[in-house]
Amino acid sequence: MKVLWKRIPEQLRRLSILVLLLIVLFVMIRTLLVPRDFGKYGHYRASAVDEIVSQSIHYAGREACEECHDDIAGVKSSGFHRNVACEVCHGPGAAHMEDPSGVQLTAPRERGYCPLCHEYLTSRPTGFPQIVSDLHNPMKPCIACHEPHDPKPPVTPKGCEACHAAIARTLSLSHHVYLPCTRCHQDPGSHKISPREFTPTKPTTREFCGECHARNDENTKGIPQIELVNHYSRYVCWQCHYPHLPEAQ
Ligand code: HEC
Ligand code: HEC
Ligand code: HEC
Ligand code: HEC
Ligand code: HEC
Ligand code: HEC
Ligand code: HEC
Ligand code: HEC
Repeated sequence: MKVLWKRIPEQLRRLSILVLLLIVLFVMIRTLLVPRDFGKYGHYRASAVDEIVSQSIHYAGREACEECHDDIAGVKSSGFHRNVACEVCHGPGAAHMEDPSGVQLTAPRERGYCPLCHEYLTSRPTGFPQIVSDLHNPMKPCIACHEPHDPKPPVTPKGCEACHAAIARTLSLSHHVYLPCTRCHQDPGSHKISPREFTPTKPTTREFCGECHARNDENTKGIPQIELVNHYSRYVCWQCHYPHLPEAQ
């Protein structure tokens, strides 16, 4: 035996010791560190199944809510949100199903929620309905205009914003938000039908803006005021202040 061992070349002898050590290490890990029931059914810990089963259920599943909220489920099933499950928006609902009035679910009514899916992102597929929430009707909650269970854009805009959407959006963010377009532009009546032929008026004089901004007895204190004769009188106002987003630096 000893002779045999000596006849094996030196490097192989060393290598075999290393292999032996590795085998011992493997057996030790397998017996000491790997749980006993690993591999009983497959490449996993058999008792993990029981542990998962014993966890309490939080989500009730897609169809569960229909039983009692069939009206809402019916509306939703034909709308754009048909593939968004109830519990995506209302949170886990299993406990609520057991005890509907004891465990109340909340509804995401705040503006910040819907943009989680609808905020414009370049990585979202083209055609997925997206908005820039800072510009998209920022003054109101989304559900003021969109029914969450059957979201559609509300009636197509019929006012000036139908065609001048960018100006209307800009104005809605400005200090002039409460001024209707027609306070500054008189529509001849046929502009919407034949826009290039019949154009609305545009303000032409400094005095027009002065109706609200000139410092005098009639104008109210709430509106920022200027001395009409001294305030850069060689120019019309909109050479410096964009009327749809007036800013004073
Ligand atoms: C066993 C019947 C039942 C089932 C199933 C059920 N609900 Fe309800 N749900 C109710 C009742 C009853 C109320 C009214 C409770 C109250 O106002 O006291 C309610 C109220 C609600 C509300 C209103 C909370 C609010 O702010 O007004 C939401 C949201 C809701 N349920 C969502 C769900 C969702 C999501 C599911 C599915 C996971 C679901 N429900 C399943 C019976 C049920
Ligand atoms: C896209 C998110 C979303 C989904 C999906 C959704 N909901 Fe709602 N749900 C809301 C919001 C937001 C409100 C609050 C509406 C309001 O206050 O006008 C609400 C309100 C409710 C209410 C309160 C009663 C009411 O009409 O105001 C119930 C009940 C309800 N949802 C049940 C459901 C059920 C059942 C489903 C699935 C069939 C579902 N919701 C799917 C967002 C959602
Ligand atoms: C979990 C993601 C998700 C959330 C949260 C969500 N939506 Fe949607 N929304 C969708 C999907 C998916 C569609 C359908 C897109 C399609 O058909 O291509 C959709 C469609 C819409 C549309 C239809 C736009 C069109 O093409 O005419 C509107 C409006 C809308 N959602 C508003 C809302 C509002 C308001 C909320 C908040 C109450 C909300 N969404 C929350 C996923 C979501
Ligand atoms: C004042 C009413 C109003 C409010 C508030 C509002 N929207 Fe809209 N939304 C509209 C109108 C009108 C349209 C269709 C015309 C347009 O695109 O501007 C629309 C269109 C959409 C579309 C479809 C865009 C597309 O390209 O198909 C989505 C998605 C949407 N809104 C989501 C939201 C979300 C999310 C919120 C809240 C952060 C919200 N909206 C708040 C009125 C509103
Ligand atoms: C059917 C679409 C449509 C509607 C609705 C519409 N406009 Fe226009 N508007 C146009 C077009 C097109 C032009 C011409 C743009 C151009 O020539 O560059 C225009 C031009 C204008 C101009 C510029 C005129 C000029 O002489 O430069 C003003 C101001 C204007 N619109 C105001 C309004 C007001 C205020 C409303 C609501 C009462 C309105 N528009 C509704 C399509 C529309
Ligand atoms: C505070 C008064 C005021 C209000 C409110 C106002 N405008 Fe104007 N608008 C002006 C003035 C002033 C000009 C002329 C700017 C110029 O000649 O450079 C103008 C120009 C325009 C033009 C010509 C193109 C451009 O951008 O210069 C259009 C189109 C227009 N407005 C549409 C609208 C619409 C639509 C609304 C409502 C959403 C609106 N305006 C609200 C004062 C106003
Ligand atoms: C119907 C009255 C009215 C008319 C006409 C009007 N404005 Fe204003 N304007 C207001 C009100 C109201 C505010 C301030 C609202 C607030 O923020 O408290 C304002 C604010 C401003 C501001 C201050 C913005 C800031 O940063 O504080 C400027 C600049 C301005 N308007 C310029 C104009 C110009 C230029 C015109 C003419 C094209 C005009 N306004 C026509 C009512 C008017
Ligand atoms: C040459 C550029 C220029 C012209 C033209 C001009 N403004 Fe101004 N405006 C400014 C600047 C710069 C400020 C801010 C500093 C200041 O108060 O002088 C301002 C400030 C204002 C303010 C805010 C005052 C306050 O107390 O907050 C109002 C309102 C205003 N302008 C309205 C007008 C009106 C109305 C006209 C036309 C009659 C007009 N401006 C013409 C440059 C101009």
